[in-house]
Amino acid sequence: MTIGQSLPHDAAALHVTGQARYTDDIPLPANTAHLAFGLSACAHGDITAIDLSAVRAAPGVIAVFSAQDWPDMPDCSPSAQDEPLLAVGRVHYVGQPVFLVVAETHLAARRAARLGRVTYAELPAILTVDQALAANSRFEQGPVIWARGDADAAIATAPHVVEGEFSVGGQEHFYLEGQIAAALPQEGGDMVIYSSTQHPTEIQHKVAHALHLPMSAVRVEVRRMGGGFGGKESQGNALAIACAMAARATGRPCKMRYDRDDDMMITGKRHDLVIRYRVGFDAQGVIKGVEYQHLFRCGWSQDLSLPVADRAMLHADNAYHLEHVRIESHRLKTHTQSATAYRGFGGPQGVIGAERVVDHIAHVLRLDPVLVRRRNFYAEMPQGGLSAPPIPPEDIFEQMKAGTFKAEAPGTGHRFGGAFSPRPAVQTTHYGMPVVDFVLRDLLDDLERRSDYAARRAEIARWNAASPILKRGIALTPVKFGISFTLTWLNQAGALVHVYQDGSIRLNHGGTEMGQGLFQKVAQVAAGVFGVAMDRVKITATDTSKVPNTSATAASSGADLNGKATEAACLTLRARLADFIAGKHQADAASVRFAEGRVWVAGADYAFEQVVAWAYQARISLSATGFYATPEISWDRTKGQGRPFYYFAYGAAVTEVVIDTLTGENRILRADLLHDTGTSLNPALDIGQVEGAYVQGAGWLTTEELVWDGKGRLATHAPSTYKIPACSDRPPVFNVALWNKANPADAVGKSKAVGEPPFMLGISAFLALSDAIAACGDGSVYPALDAPATAERVLWAVQRQRHG
Ligand code: MTE
Ligand code: MOS
Repeated sequence: MTIGQSLPHDAAALHVTGQARYTDDIPLPANTAHLAFGLSACAHGDITAIDLSAVRAAPGVIAVFSAQDWPDMPDCSPSAQDEPLLAVGRVHYVGQPVFLVVAETHLAARRAARLGRVTYAELPAILTVDQALAANSRFEQGPVIWARGDADAAIATAPHVVEGEFSVGGQEHFYLEGQIAAALPQEGGDMVIYSSTQHPTEIQHKVAHALHLPMSAVRVEVRRMGGGFGGKESQGNALAIACAMAARATGRPCKMRYDRDDDMMITGKRHDLVIRYRVGFDAQGVIKGVEYQHLFRCGWSQDLSLPVADRAMLHADNAYHLEHVRIESHRLKTHTQSATAYRGFGGPQGVIGAERVVDHIAHVLRLDPVLVRRRNFYAEMPQGGLSAPPIPPEDIFEQMKAGTFKAEAPGTGHRFGGAFSPRPAVQTTHYGMPVVDFVLRDLLDDLERRSDYAARRAEIARWNAASPILKRGIALTPVKFGISFTLTWLNQAGALVHVYQDGSIRLNHGGTEMGQGLFQKVAQVAAGVFGVAMDRVKITATDTSKVPNTSATAASSGADLNGKATEAACLTLRARLADFIAGKHQADAASVRFAEGRVWVAGADYAFEQVVAWAYQARISLSATGFYATPEISWDRTKGQGRPFYYFAYGAAVTEVVIDTLTGENRILRADLLHDTGTSLNPALDIGQVEGAYVQGAGWLTTEELVWDGKGRLATHAPSTYKIPACSDRPPVFNVALWNKANPADAVGKSKAVGEPPFMLGISAFLALSDAIAACGDGSVYPALDAPATAERVLWAVQRQRHG
């Protein structure tokens, strides 16, 4: 069995020896031209004059294009057709592409792009959440509101009420490989595109649209990305379209690569937002009613903001059962980069609101926050999850469809404790999805033991009492993350598998590789079906001419979708081989076994390649497609009701930090992570995902700060000013373990998606800092920390604690 083995990433050796080929490494024809954008220096204004004569005269320049040259300006948007490739008449943010330079070299194009003279009649720019609210600048008529029960009444009658507001910063993707694309014109006007994209089909679609070609005339190939993190779901469109347009206009192959500063100035980042909350709770800390307001700063174009903000609403419960809840989500339009997908896709923004609320409740009641968390958790289903719940989930869904399903009252749900237990409640989320696979109580038991949480918490309190300058803090936070695209039809995938006559296997599917190890996992699935060693399976580049109509590799669903599609293709081929060899032995095809590179049939056994060679000679097709569509999901976005997710992935983390109260400097001392991967397809890769996601999540909430000046210019557009975690920021004690128990849902190999969920484990670092700050005063004031908790913010918060 190759499934479940900790095999190395298929390209690990290539990565570390520098041999892995990225888009920039692909040898291109000698006449390839290079592109650069000239960028807007104005956040909002009308272009009154545009003088590109110096650009045209610059050394090495082949052509220069602006809106005047392309009256039929191509659009780059993945959603609302509101992103012209080059600004038409008006600019909407500092960094917006205004003109395009085509030159002999990358450097010549970049140098020439600086020589453009564009003048603007400035208009008032809307930069902040407050300004956008005041101007009612948004992407929809008004806020989206989902409610269950009567939050207002529940809060009014609750014994305790707290409210608060905090801001949560955005985040630059900082993929190591920047955005890049190349276009090679073909005969008859066809186009081949190489792109660093998570979404080859979107690139194909947008390029075809720009060139007025059918999609069949455009082929997009992606071998790998040097990281995407959501930043290459839509943000690569502009480069690919620019290359295709310039290639069409000049007849030459064209390549475009953003340099790091341009990449940060031009492309969208994680949405920052302001979260307001009001919560009523009892003396035990059980939430009676809660209201959230999410104020998302979406930037100048719609991009993926609506589904991102939806996902935040879908995760406003995190792991907590909310009977009376109201969530109001504002998608505000501002004159800044268009915020886009970023690992978690809005989920982290929803989850941090929930975690802030339970932390605040615990502070007010002076309870251990973990106790408050546990008291608000969803009811746990019996071991075996979906296979043995009190009501079979199919019945629940049938009842839900018929409108007869009743979730039981909150508080009746509890651990299923064997014969004495009454039927446990099946609780539903605030959007009506039954939670039948909740594992966090057991997972927390395990994590608290592994991390020695209770003893360390007591020890830290003692230590703090004796330490006036340095203060330590600890926090345990859980995550529950829904797996599936919320746009239901995206939950599909295809695969194409060839078996050659020598027994070698070539694998292609619609997923893209960005470092997460998808190709390795899917190849392990394929090798597992045929019972052959991994080296027999050739992993190949994603290619829209081999597998069409792919979804973005996103929503953590790459392995779930493409693994299943590949499994289906391999099962088709294996069945053909089994039928064939069984026929030769008058045996039952079902009795044929594929393992260890051999095929067993009726007492005989043959090498896999021998059976393949015979099948070829018997004129049996050795190529098959596979297809998968996630079952059982349905979602009504406008009502905010349904079952948007096939299942949930869970995890929890304990982080301990120390702060210097004189400077605000701080450090993570130890992190203990326990993350639910179902039956892991590859534990080594999954641990890598969990570790990386935690560090990236902690970076989002601690050092990674995006600063725009009063003119809307991003001031932090290079690693000199934007601080991602370095190797030295990795916790010195870093214990990572997998909750490696079968996924009750029928996902590939009973595994669970792992790409995004552990990102939210980083929230424990943020709340540990808050805990350390709380230790500075007399404990009466809640630290009310904004994110990211930079050294400055920590220092200010300490001063508020000490001096009010
Ligand atoms: N891991 C690495 N190394 N590089 C990445 O770019 N992207 C993340 C996550 N893990 C990413 C990563 C994001 S945003 C997603 S949605 C998933 O991987 C996508 O891959 P998957 O669906 O195969 O998990
Ligand atoms: Mo990930 S944000 O879904 O690309």
